[in-house]
Amino acid sequence: MPKSTILPIITVVSNLNRWAWFVVLMLLCGSVSADEPAPAKQQELRNLLKHDCGACHGLQLKGGLGPPLLPEALADKSDVLLLDTIQNGRPGTAMPPWKSFLTVDETNWLIRLLRQP
Ligand code: HEC
Repeated sequence: MPKSTILPIITVVSNLNRWAWFVVLMLLCGSVSADEPAPAKQQELRNLLKHDCGACHGLQLKGGLGPPLLPEALADKSDVLLLDTIQNGRPGTAMPPWKSFLTVDETNWLIRLLRQP
């Protein structure tokens, strides 16, 4: 193969490599930001927890119309159960569905916050 064809191929391959790294980096960043809401959003979620959830579960989440949401109270409940309860509510009870206000990632973040305030 003449040198003039090899050089462009090397250039393309080495650029591909750089792109591959770029893509991997973007994927990594994407997955981090996907389950961790931005700081402003986190503040919004803390407010929602205090005011909206607190309206039923108590301002300190010690219980009211709804049961307490303190770490001890949730210790034996699975993440899946809590995710389902918050996203879809509990039909036949006062617990409303929140899926039109909270994404799954935001809900998972809230569950982690409830477990480790
Ligand atoms: C209108 C009142 C009301 C609001 C607002 C409300 N909840 Fe509830 N929630 C309830 C009630 C009542 C139950 C108990 C349902 C049952 O009897 O199983 C409950 C149950 C739960 C449970 C399950 C607890 C357990 O011990 O199984 C979780 C978790 C929960 N709520 C989280 C939330 C979060 C997070 C919010 C805010 C985004 C919220 N709730 C807002 C009334 C409410």
